[in-house]
Amino acid sequence: MQILGISGSLRAGSYNTGLLRAAAEVAPTGTTLELYPPGRLAAVPPYDGDVEEQGTPAAVAELKAAIAAADAVLVATPEYNASVPGQLKNALDWVSRPISESPLRGKPVAVVGASTSAYGALWAQAELRKVLGILGGRIVEAEVAVSHAAERFDASGRLVDDETREQLAGVVADLVAAATPVAQAA
Ligand SMILES: Cc1cc2nc3c(=O)[nH]c(=O)nc-3n(C[C@H](O)[C@H](O)[C@H](O)COP(=O)(O)O)c2cc1C
Repeated sequence: MQILGISGSLRAGSYNTGLLRAAAEVAPTGTTLELYPPGRLAAVPPYDGDVEEQGTPAAVAELKAAIAAADAVLVATPEYNASVPGQLKNALDWVSRPISESPLRGKPVAVVGASTSAYGALWAQAELRKVLGILGGRIVEAEVAVSHAAERFDASGRLVDDETREQLAGVVADLVAAATPVAQAA
């Protein structure tokens, strides 16, 4: 079982990327959670229909292929001004073109988030679930909202909050269950 982790933050010291690293650590035996290279979303150009007509940009093709190759996707998103960070939304807009070929169609996808405020990127997570659903993703509703993120990671960026770790393990388990064929799960 292969889960692709996509961080919505481009920051090297991102708490959201740190969440995905922690999720990889708590993934069950037989499941690998591989991070889409942190910061790579910066290579995705602004969506432009004229550019699209010239062909799919390499960074977009790379992202779509990574999603297509995964059994499930876990996205960790920051919240910018009560919504999804622009570069993450832009990348998903590209992934949605054409919508009939969305690599997210039927794919289990879960959303978690961390913010430095008291709310844990809740609004951004809700909006992101809506967008991922439009792209055809099978939304796994489990939620992890990491508030006051600066207090839950150590200086090296490692998640040091046990409760959050347990919640992440639950989300990963739910994703694995959603991605496991019924016959195999029985
Ligand atoms: C442009 C901008 C807008 C932000 N707006 C919000 C917000 O609406 N809600 C919130 O909880 N945090 C907000 N923040 C703070 C982020 O939660 C914080 O920067 C967080 O660490 C970003 O995630 P990262 O560590 O993964 O980069 C904002 C930060 C930026 C840069």
